[in-house]
Amino acid sequence: MTGREQLARELTAARDRTLRLVDFDDAELGRQYHPLMSPLVWDLAHIGQQEELWLLRDGNPDRPGMLAPEVERLYDAFVHPRAGRADLPLLPPTDARAYCRTVRDKALDVLDALPDDGSDPGAAFNFGLVISHENQHDETMLQALNLRVGAPLLDAGAPLPAGRAGVAGTSVLVPGGAFVLGVDAATEPHSLDNERPAHVVDVPSFRIGRVPVTNGEWQQFLDDGGYDEPRWWSRAGWAHRVQAGLRAPQFWNPDGTRIRFGHVEAIPADEPVQHVTYFEAEAYAAWAGARLPTEVEWEKACAWDPALGARRRYPWGASEPTAHLANLGGDALRPAPVGAYPAGASAYGAEQMLGDVWEWTTSPLRAWPGFTPMIYERYSQPFFDGDYKVLRGGSWAVAANILRPSFRNWDHPIRRQIFAGVRLAWSVEEGQA
Ligand SMILES: [Fe+2]
Repeated sequence: MTGREQLARELTAARDRTLRLVDFDDAELGRQYHPLMSPLVWDLAHIGQQEELWLLRDGNPDRPGMLAPEVERLYDAFVHPRAGRADLPLLPPTDARAYCRTVRDKALDVLDALPDDGSDPGAAFNFGLVISHENQHDETMLQALNLRVGAPLLDAGAPLPAGRAGVAGTSVLVPGGAFVLGVDAATEPHSLDNERPAHVVDVPSFRIGRVPVTNGEWQQFLDDGGYDEPRWWSRAGWAHRVQAGLRAPQFWNPDGTRIRFGHVEAIPADEPVQHVTYFEAEAYAAWAGARLPTEVEWEKACAWDPALGARRRYPWGASEPTAHLANLGGDALRPAPVGAYPAGASAYGAEQMLGDVWEWTTSPLRAWPGFTPMIYERYSQPFFDGDYKVLRGGSWAVAANILRPSFRNWDHPIRRQIFAGVRLAWSVEEGQA
């Protein structure tokens, strides 16, 4: 994302996507599909409110805005937890749409007035932040729509490339050694605060799954009684397994079908499993004689090029993501089968690192040394308390232009409405590497 025209294009693309996800009647937009998710009309107005704050008010909530303060407060995610948002006196859909349109028109005027020579990187960063924020909410809205009960509102999704046999269950070696973790503004001007700064980290040798764990592999864990065997589970994981009554990934039916955006369909064996908690991922890994990767291992396997001794911008190199390289953007409404993107492999041969499913890591979200908060100070900092596990790689629902190998997502280890799956890792004795 650089240059005025590019930012304008990406703002428009994000908005087109948002509008497709709220292209339903007013009653639908006000419904809360699940206590974990907001009604869609909340996300819509919140997208506009954040855009107004970052682009039209310099991030200063004390500067008067277009909404009355008590209305604006309804869209503060830290004030109103998701479970109660349907009961708030939210802007009706028509007003929310009009508000978003007005904010956008003014934001485009601000963009027009921006120097196009890179002399105001702070302003360009704020536009990138707003583009990223809107796209992140689009993914959240897809999570909500996936939890909706009833006849499907969305079709079954765009076609995907075929997978290839022989890759599920295989792994690649990442020899030990130092690499550069994280990025800087100079190389990734739109990277967010928690991805910075770049710093050298030494990582012992390890192996990592060539591809994510598939539904077919997960079925073997089920068939082997994995959900009934406390020995595969951590203490906290087993307690949650029992308390929540987990028996299989979310949306799986006992008859071998699943529900996806309201569509009942056979569970594809070669598709990466999704909708599992961190605790289930951890138990599966123990059962498989493996473990989950740390986020540092994950990033090295994704981004480091040992031949160059440098990071690649994407796992496959410098070129922008395309439909030939990764499953991103949300149109597929599902992960691609494993082996579908051989051209997207990392230097170490790991495939589907970006797109398809978010991958749970063992790492709690923490600041990198030298962390400096960005203008949106509450984006990362409130979550550095150790309660959140980092997820890497981005799901099929993530927009291609906001994703990088350094991008960090996080959630509670009990969450599984997110499009999260599993990639295994194994420690390797140095002598064997
Ligand atoms: Fe938000």
